[in-house]
Amino acid sequence: MPPSRLWLQWFERGAAPGLGRREQLCASLRQAMREGDLQLGERLPSSRMLAADLGLSRVTVEAAYGQLEAEGYLSRRIGQGSFVAFARAPEAAPRTPAGARVAHLNMRPPPLSQRGQRIADGGACEDPRRPLPFAAGSPDLRAFPLPLWRQLIKRRLSDAGGRELLGYGEPQGLACLREAIAGYLRQARGLRCSAEQVLVLTSSQQALQLLAGMLLDEGDRVWMEEPGYRGAATAFAAAGARLRPVPVDAHGLCPPERGSEPPPRLIYLTPSHQYPSGVALSLARRQALLELARREGCWLIEDDYDSEFHYEGRPMPALQGLQPEQEPGRVLYLGTFSKALFPSLRLAYLVLPPELVAPLCTARSIQDGHSALLPQAVTADFISQGHFAAHLRLMRQLYRQRREVLMNELQARVGDWLRPQPSPGGLQIAALLPPGEEASWSRRAAGAGLLTPSLSALYRGPARLDGWLLGFAALTPAEIVVAVQALARLQR
Ligand SMILES: Cc1ncc(COP(=O)(O)O)c(C=O)c1O
Repeated sequence: MPPSRLWLQWFERGAAPGLGRREQLCASLRQAMREGDLQLGERLPSSRMLAADLGLSRVTVEAAYGQLEAEGYLSRRIGQGSFVAFARAPEAAPRTPAGARVAHLNMRPPPLSQRGQRIADGGACEDPRRPLPFAAGSPDLRAFPLPLWRQLIKRRLSDAGGRELLGYGEPQGLACLREAIAGYLRQARGLRCSAEQVLVLTSSQQALQLLAGMLLDEGDRVWMEEPGYRGAATAFAAAGARLRPVPVDAHGLCPPERGSEPPPRLIYLTPSHQYPSGVALSLARRQALLELARREGCWLIEDDYDSEFHYEGRPMPALQGLQPEQEPGRVLYLGTFSKALFPSLRLAYLVLPPELVAPLCTARSIQDGHSALLPQAVTADFISQGHFAAHLRLMRQLYRQRREVLMNELQARVGDWLRPQPSPGGLQIAALLPPGEEASWSRRAAGAGLLTPSLSALYRGPARLDGWLLGFAALTPAEIVVAVQALARLQR
């Protein structure tokens, strides 16, 4: 007789909306017999035992057994028990030893929904845990002003307001942080926004997931930059969207000819510093995309993930600020503190057109409620007291120098097989490898303890460039030199 936990699995498998427990049990036993999990002649547990295993009343189990007997699935013999009377067609039900059947059952994939399966198949979005050379996208945590952060935490907790930070908070985020973010974005990025339009979240990934769930229906078209950010592609694909990779050239995303195909519902962009190529979306393209969004009623996501780190002048002002004031907003602006402060802070933000604020706050409230209050309060203080601007100035200086060291070292030591692509900002450099050689070089690099994030993996279509995205920001100049020497040794 199969063990209790299998009976429980089968019973749970038979659940369906509106089904009573007796019908659920009947349905699950019929299914087990049809699928060969219970086979002709097999004895069922007594109604008393099964009732105890499934947490049902004995009357319910008796009633289910009675019904299955009436339907011909079971035969019940007084004093002997209940036996399976249903025989599957022999070719469809190869008889296997009971032990083998149990093992086979345990190996079944978990019963996921279609959406769940899509998410599982899309792969995880994981970032490197340690700043190993050349992990991409990692800021330098050794340079973060920890003593100052500690002081700000202490002050917040010793304040009269300290206890308020222990309770539940607004899904939209602490007002003081929203004010600080809106002020920073207006001043540094040219956004047109107020604190009421800001939604504080845990990460850009949460924002993308939230937007995908709230703005996309199954089968909606989404234009993605090609190559582009996988975290965004995975969020849209999980929502059932149809992704259309749109090539990126020297002016950023190059939209298809007007009228050549149906318009998208949403366009995902990294306009100030395209991920991963580093190009900026030209003004003409920005205007064309805003015009498209206005005409077709589609949304533009502006992921401004690393605009804080531009080393040659200031980045172009945000696309969001280019929208005419009197028109309804089509741009959903996304920013994160993962790079500008530190990733475990788990704070990012969306700036939304006013009509989207309430529905997205509701959606957020049913996801995870809100972001932790103490880090929100401390981040607000860090910004409003001027430490954020000072920290960014310092980090820009450090990173600019590191980027230069990496460019020079790469050109001098491995320039014959690895071609770094100049870029005005960011925490990593894209470098091209000879066509078809990425996999073999990556294997050799991994053998030498180097992380070399793949460039070709960021393409969805068949035309791909081979190369790596080499992170430099978390490494000191001396560490960069050592790491490039290790790259150079791979040639031998
Ligand atoms: C384009 C882009 N957007 C967003 C993020 C991640 O931000 P978060 O850590 O807030 O999810 C990254 C991280 O590398 C990125 O490259």
